[in-house]
Amino acid sequence: MMKSFTLSLVAAMLFLAAADTVSSNEILDSGALPSVMDFGLIDHRGDFHRLYYYEKDEDTRAIALFVQGNGCPLVQKRFPQLHELAAEYGAKGVKMAMINSCFQDTRDEIVEEAGEFDVRIPILIDSDQLVGEMLGLTRTAEMILIDPRSWKIVFRGPVDDRLNYEKELPAAREHYFRNAVDAFLAGEKIEKPVVPAVGCLISFPDRELHEKNGLTYATDIAPILMEKCVRCHTRGGIGPFAMSSHRKVRGWMDMIEEVVLNQRMPPWQADPHYGEFSNDFSLTPMEKKKLIHWIRDGAVMEEGSEDPLEGLVVEQPKWAMGEPDHILAIPRQEVPAQGIIDYRYIHQTSPFDSDVWVSGVNVIPGNTKVVHHIIAYIKEEKDGKLVRTGFLAGYAPGYEPREFPENSGRLLPKGAVIEYELHYTACGTPETDESLIGLYLHPHKPQRALHTGLLMDHEFSIPPHDGNYKWSRTKKIKEDITIYDMNPHMHLRGKAMKYVVEYPNGTSRILLSVPHYNFNWQRSYVLEEPAKIPAGSKLTVHAVWDNSILNPANPDPSATIGWGEQSFDEMFFATYSYTVDEAENGSSSGPFSLAD
Ligand code: HEC
Repeated sequence: MMKSFTLSLVAAMLFLAAADTVSSNEILDSGALPSVMDFGLIDHRGDFHRLYYYEKDEDTRAIALFVQGNGCPLVQKRFPQLHELAAEYGAKGVKMAMINSCFQDTRDEIVEEAGEFDVRIPILIDSDQLVGEMLGLTRTAEMILIDPRSWKIVFRGPVDDRLNYEKELPAAREHYFRNAVDAFLAGEKIEKPVVPAVGCLISFPDRELHEKNGLTYATDIAPILMEKCVRCHTRGGIGPFAMSSHRKVRGWMDMIEEVVLNQRMPPWQADPHYGEFSNDFSLTPMEKKKLIHWIRDGAVMEEGSEDPLEGLVVEQPKWAMGEPDHILAIPRQEVPAQGIIDYRYIHQTSPFDSDVWVSGVNVIPGNTKVVHHIIAYIKEEKDGKLVRTGFLAGYAPGYEPREFPENSGRLLPKGAVIEYELHYTACGTPETDESLIGLYLHPHKPQRALHTGLLMDHEFSIPPHDGNYKWSRTKKIKEDITIYDMNPHMHLRGKAMKYVVEYPNGTSRILLSVPHYNFNWQRSYVLEEPAKIPAGSKLTVHAVWDNSILNPANPDPSATIGWGEQSFDEMFFATYSYTVDEAENGSSSGPFSLAD
């Protein structure tokens, strides 16, 4: 049963994460403020921020979060002062951001109000309110000061006493925030660590609803886990533990809360604000709220009820799309125990004695300990030279097999050569690999040829220690095309990638934004509604790399990094698949269309 709370403030405080959960009155009495869990949020400009990113940053001495809310005069009147404070204390190592946890404010509205007031501080958008609940927010215009060494909140309260409900002093008499942050930076005791917030009340209607009605494990929670997590978190799956019973999930509940809040899980990196994707398995805002509210309430299962996770069998057929029509076997490879392994290229002539149209592919890596990526290119003879004329299949971590869009196919011409590009990484023991590519074939020539478009660039050079290095590449679209999916690809320093189309009429649309790219999860983002791109449009891909020491995946922040094949080098390699609109009877899978 859900506990019922009378005071929303007490409820908010009880929802504070971490070991030292205390009620607000205790906090006000003792000054012992709780610590904050890691979280990840996208800001009003579309950039991703993760709190614990700053853990190892000696230059970040404190983090100040101002609680924003649209339409609240006590917030709006603070903006000019906040910019001053951000500049003054930014120079002293205090990072400032705002957070909007208001149920009623949409992202577009937040962007609009930020524009109206010329807000230049990132506003983190906590639309499902889970971070706001964790922080124990009750009112806007509160300032929260966090120590990045302990993740303790060291101060919370109004910036000063200048603004109050319906009255305003000509000048502040009490500088709560300034006093607190000065004392903190000087290593001195903060005299007033908690001052009641003066701002507009924040409502948490879904939390109240879940408290009032309760959440039932078997009907509310287990189905979410079964749909969004169990595909990987099952025996023999790629997830590190199996969600095979309520007991297992309950034991992992704190870890689940952490990875959901900091957006590590489920592993889906696209910004939900731009476009819908048919292979999206991220949690919806309501699923997230149910799961986390249930965990924060103790993650109990009703007595006597059946556990849907117990005995659940997840089908994991070898060929997810059924037996292929033909299997290409890549010759067995020996992989040494250590060292850097150059890409290997293996040629195989097409096994078919006529042209074939491929309707789908499924790559099965033989040995996931060492297979890093596999690409199968199509090569044909042009002017006496064997050149790449198409793309047949590709595998990288995070890969999901998929059928090509309806009535489209990739042509594997008679006599063509299939070139396998194999990238292995040594794992400490000598290994062998026998990877397979399952081909699904069209019985007849399909309506359209599916092409792979590519924006690639070798020219960038990422300076040492640069945490936000940007590069972009634009390509003119010369025919009317339809784009079906996009595959951003960078290496370990990759931070963000965005595909933007500018139409001939000057308007533009973000087709895909991946604000927290993760090298371990390189996937296709498949558009729910394929995008029609008229001839004369421009397609631009923007990349951002993080070559700072704060990027936990960065192998060497002191290096200048350019293009290279190994993971410790970098790539700007953004692909998409498309068909040409009027070519109803496309005759060739066509050459790669490189950026021009
Ligand atoms: C596509 C496969 C996949 C899906 C779907 C998935 N996970 Fe994971 N999960 C993984 C893998 C692989 C790891 C370990 C590597 C990593 O952290 O990236 C992991 C790690 C975790 C961990 C942390 C374990 C640790 O200490 O690293 C938790 C907790 C977790 N997942 C929970 C979830 C929850 C909850 C869901 C659903 C809402 C979910 N996962 C969905 C594959 C998946």
